[in-house]
Amino acid sequence: MRKKLVVGNWKMNMTRAQAKAAVESLVQLVDPKTEVEVAICPPFLSIESVVTVFSGTPFQVGAQDVFWMPSGAFTGCVSTSMLADAGCELCIVGHSETRGRFGKLEVPATTVAYFAESDETVNLKIKALLAQSIRPILCVGETLEERNEGRTDEVIAAQLKGAFVGITAADYKAGVVAYEPVWAIGTGKTCDNAEANRVCGFIREQLRAILDASTADSIRILYGGSVKPSNAKDLFAQPEIDGGLVGGASLDPKDFSEVIQGA
Ligand code: 13P
Repeated sequence: MRKKLVVGNWKMNMTRAQAKAAVESLVQLVDPKTEVEVAICPPFLSIESVVTVFSGTPFQVGAQDVFWMPSGAFTGCVSTSMLADAGCELCIVGHSETRGRFGKLEVPATTVAYFAESDETVNLKIKALLAQSIRPILCVGETLEERNEGRTDEVIAAQLKGAFVGITAADYKAGVVAYEPVWAIGTGKTCDNAEANRVCGFIREQLRAILDASTADSIRILYGGSVKPSNAKDLFAQPEIDGGLVGGASLDPKDFSEVIQGA
């Protein structure tokens, strides 16, 4: 049986003081003996504050992005060894927002090219993370337009194929995949339970072919997109959904603890 995993993606929210206060309340609200694996991915600058509060608890800390080169003249970038040094055990890769695919666009459409992650950069980041023993959380998912054109499975299959070039089953044993339909992110629209389960099952089938069957059966596949206390339990009860990648609802410790309760 796969252990449920619930990850909070704080995105670009929380100062260090707010981060510290949020996780201090979270550790009060969530039983450390919970059967659910719990992690928070804060912005880079508050990673240290969260690591300090989580020290001595089973809760883990992840990053939201990374650069694949080990060091050098890469202004604005953060390496895998810096993440490991700061205490990160996980890292999100290929989030639709870093790929420039937004469910709710809050920047002008002309500036979206700034967020230009591709399947190739996703692949480089995964390799760099695995070399540092940081577990990647690979995000895949379709836009509303792609869904309406009946291309959901094709888009996800291509994202998976691109992400796993040169990666073996043994490499990705501890890795995670998240299905995040772009149209359900930050929009309040959740993918229906049966469809979210179907797509997570489709992802597992692809992983069987790309990696191998036993690895595919052990990898946690999360659902993300408007997960909240009111829908978490039903989503996480689906057989192919092994937990959630939670944005908005992870910012409030009470809401996030209820989502964890749902798992
Ligand atoms: P929301 O939960 O705010 O829809 O965000 C989901 C997400 O993108 C998590 O990575």
